[in-house]
Amino acid sequence: MIRQQLAGLKASAQLAKAVHDRSGKVLLNAGVELKAEYLDKLRQYGVSEVWIRDDRLADVAGDESISDASKIDCVSTAAAVFEAARHETSLPMTAAHEAIEAAVDDVLADPAHVVGISATGPTAPEEHAAHVSWMAIAVGVERRMNRDDLCTLGLAGLLHDLGIALLPPEAAEAAASARGERRGDARQHTVLGFKALVEEARASATVAQGALQHHERPDGSGFPKGLREGKISAVAQIVAVADEYGGLVSAPPYGEGLEPGEAVRRLAERDGQLAPAPVIEAFLSVVAPYPVGMPVMLDSQERAVVIRLQRGAAGRPVVRVLAGPDGRATQPRDVDLSQDDTLAIVGRAEGEA
Ligand SMILES: [Fe+2]
Repeated sequence: MIRQQLAGLKASAQLAKAVHDRSGKVLLNAGVELKAEYLDKLRQYGVSEVWIRDDRLADVAGDESISDASKIDCVSTAAAVFEAARHETSLPMTAAHEAIEAAVDDVLADPAHVVGISATGPTAPEEHAAHVSWMAIAVGVERRMNRDDLCTLGLAGLLHDLGIALLPPEAAEAAASARGERRGDARQHTVLGFKALVEEARASATVAQGALQHHERPDGSGFPKGLREGKISAVAQIVAVADEYGGLVSAPPYGEGLEPGEAVRRLAERDGQLAPAPVIEAFLSVVAPYPVGMPVMLDSQERAVVIRLQRGAAGRPVVRVLAGPDGRATQPRDVDLSQDDTLAIVGRAEGEA
């Protein structure tokens, strides 16, 4: 199976996996043949990509580390927490803990502990929150944190921007983008999230610090306090890098819509400024800019699909080449990019593979 963006998808394509909305409700079942009206409906629900059956990729099971069920739980729980915060009702913290525990167990069970994160559209706040938690968990496993600490880290990732839901409506709207949340009154989301987590949700101090400090930077250029390296919690440093990456790859209006490979290069350049070098290094080993199933273009102008992620070589996965430089289908061949430095991914491939 293969990930395909809705734009450019043929109406007769067959779904390889069910499609869910952000509350976890099934919109279309696996096996359904897509029709033009279904595609319109999916767009209305903010779905930007779907899994399509492809005989050339029948052995590609779908995803890496984190199971679909855990992913759906994390996104729908984040949506429920933000909704509760906006309506000043009690936050569903037990559900949030459970969703994160399941994701942590998934990543721990995968010896490669790599997660693939790449936005193909604007990332809704609950999706961004879930992405940040998954990236943080993978980095935590790489940094050899124990299960309890990983759950705390994952929860801090999921709830780092809780304060945005607590801003006055105008400021909340401005804070909906990665740039907007760093300006003016929107900066208060760090303090508001911290207070809500400590006073109402009775979250651990570490989770609350993740909300308070995720915009602090080691050189003192961050907010709300301008803390320097030694004063920023380890959890907040990891969340900061994951949050930054999520903002770089998400399409506007949330983020900058960078090609994921370019986003990774930007992070690598900013080690020490965004977070201490070992945190960035761990991030780059376990967060894959091109996830399993993603159609990619190689520098040979061949089209391929990512079929397996590799720890330590997150940007150089195993790919299956499906089409030559002329765009015509070729006999599929697998290439382990970590072993073959004559080829590299230059970006996502648009349209049909
Ligand atoms: Fe934030």
